[in-house]
Amino acid sequence: MAQEAVTTAPTSDSAYFNGSKEQYVQAMFADIAPRYDLLNDLLSLRMHRRWRRLSVRLAGVTPGQTCLDVCTGTGAFAVDLARAAGTTGRVAGSDFCAPMIRAGFSGLHSASHAPIRMTVGNAESLPFATATFDVVTVGFGIRNVGSIASALSEMSRVTKPGGKIVVLEFTRPENVPAFVTWYLFKFLPWLGGLLSRRDAYNYLPESMKAFVDRHELVRLMQKSGIEDVSVRSLNFGTVCIHIGTRANSAPEARQV
Ligand SMILES: C[S@@+](CC[C@H](N)C(=O)[O-])C[C@H]1O[C@@H](n2cnc3c(N)ncnc32)[C@H](O)[C@@H]1O
Repeated sequence: MAQEAVTTAPTSDSAYFNGSKEQYVQAMFADIAPRYDLLNDLLSLRMHRRWRRLSVRLAGVTPGQTCLDVCTGTGAFAVDLARAAGTTGRVAGSDFCAPMIRAGFSGLHSASHAPIRMTVGNAESLPFATATFDVVTVGFGIRNVGSIASALSEMSRVTKPGGKIVVLEFTRPENVPAFVTWYLFKFLPWLGGLLSRRDAYNYLPESMKAFVDRHELVRLMQKSGIEDVSVRSLNFGTVCIHIGTRANSAPEARQV
């Protein structure tokens, strides 16, 4: 997804970010917000749209449901949820970067789908009550948060027992064809640099390398009280949809 530059793997708060990763990421998305959707379309050949729609289908969103999209950015995932939830549903989107939310604002509202309410908030401390939502999603956001475990545990907390939690994310490629590696690690940063900041798009491959692998992500979801996690691999294994069910009891109360 549309992102900018660092040249070493961004793992957590560190001197590299000249402060916290959180501040760095927030400033970076504020900077690219007006171009984010256009760049996503160009750089993924609009495939990111299909991946979100597939995620909503796999989550089995039905009319009337209440859904949340975390790290919603310009709100594309929230709109897909709103279409599936219909006019009787309700959708919330949350992101800690207000310029990203503002950049998507005009496309968010339609009388033909669920109303969408946008909130500025941190994924690691969601401004919603426990067990509020039937479905909670995050698209290309979890890789960017300071603590994946905290964000997952918050997503789990605000989901109703039996509700669905969906993580759509780039994943560390495993045995992918050489041209895919070339595209991700050479061509994409070069093209992104031409279209955006000079050093733009190094962040995407670097953050993919630094991110947990798909198996570890399953374990982190399970530790957060998310059960029956399944993984759908897309785009030569460079993108995965992890989907699971919120357990009936809080993770700390369950017997392991
Ligand atoms: C790559 S964009 C993805 C946007 C959108 N979900 C999509 O699918 O296009 C990542 C988003 O995550 C947000 N983000 C990163 N860390 C966050 C955090 N800790 N809390 C809330 N939002 C965060 C950024 O502000 C940015 O809008």
